[in-house]
Amino acid sequence: MTAAPARVTIAPLTARAFLDRLTEALSVYVTAMGYPRSTVRQRAPLWREHVRRPGWRAVGAIDADDRLTGVAYGYRGTHGQWWHDEVRRGLTAAHRDGLGWLADYFELTELHVLPAAQGAGLGERVLRMLLHDCPSRSVLLSTPELDPRSPARAWRLYRRLGFLDVLRSHQFVGDPRPFAVLGRALPLPGPPPPGPDPI
Ligand SMILES: CC(C)(COP(=O)(O)OP(=O)(O)OC[C@H]1O[C@@H](n2cnc3c(N)ncnc32)[C@H](O)[C@@H]1OP(=O)(O)O)[C@@H](O)C(=O)NCCC(=O)NCCS
Repeated sequence: MTAAPARVTIAPLTARAFLDRLTEALSVYVTAMGYPRSTVRQRAPLWREHVRRPGWRAVGAIDADDRLTGVAYGYRGTHGQWWHDEVRRGLTAAHRDGLGWLADYFELTELHVLPAAQGAGLGERVLRMLLHDCPSRSVLLSTPELDPRSPARAWRLYRRLGFLDVLRSHQFVGDPRPFAVLGRALPLPGPPPPGPDPI
């Protein structure tokens, strides 16, 4: 791991603060994922809509110059949501004994740290704060399948925190890439993250 960046504040973001920083948050996302800049505008309505979903919560990592260097959010998953129904379809088709995961879970929708700030534990701290006191029985996420041509940072983080395979090589409608769906029971073991009041 590289040295922790100086004076980064990790704090829950209220819906208002998240929406105020929406373009910045989307910039972190496209930079971390290596997506084209045009994705910022395409994704904005969806992220705005997610804020209104039950159980929505977000956490930001903010540096000394008040710039967002990391962001994560999610909400309570339930039927009728595109992601939920896609995972249910995949589990059913794969005859996986995993439908129980869908009974009561928090969907970790996004988790991103700017490349320059990666490798210093920010991702774990952001994720721990997001999941702290989360009332769901478990947390689920999807991430692109391991690919030897790209770094496995997300995978290393999720495995380190005990995420298990729920579904592998799943093809979401409209995306040619294979994805893994990973999950783990909540709460995460370990001390509660220290943190300031919501921003
Ligand atoms: C996944 C992500 C949020 C993790 O954030 P992070 O701050 O790097 O997280 P951490 O430092 O807590 O740990 C990440 C792991 O990657 C490793 N890593 C991160 N940056 C690295 C680098 N530059 N060189 C080598 N290893 C690195 C860390 O050492 C750690 O591995 P370890 O558990 O074996 O020590 C971040 O890498 C990211 O935004 N990636 C691109 C977007 C993405 O894939 N998001 C998740 C989509 S589901």
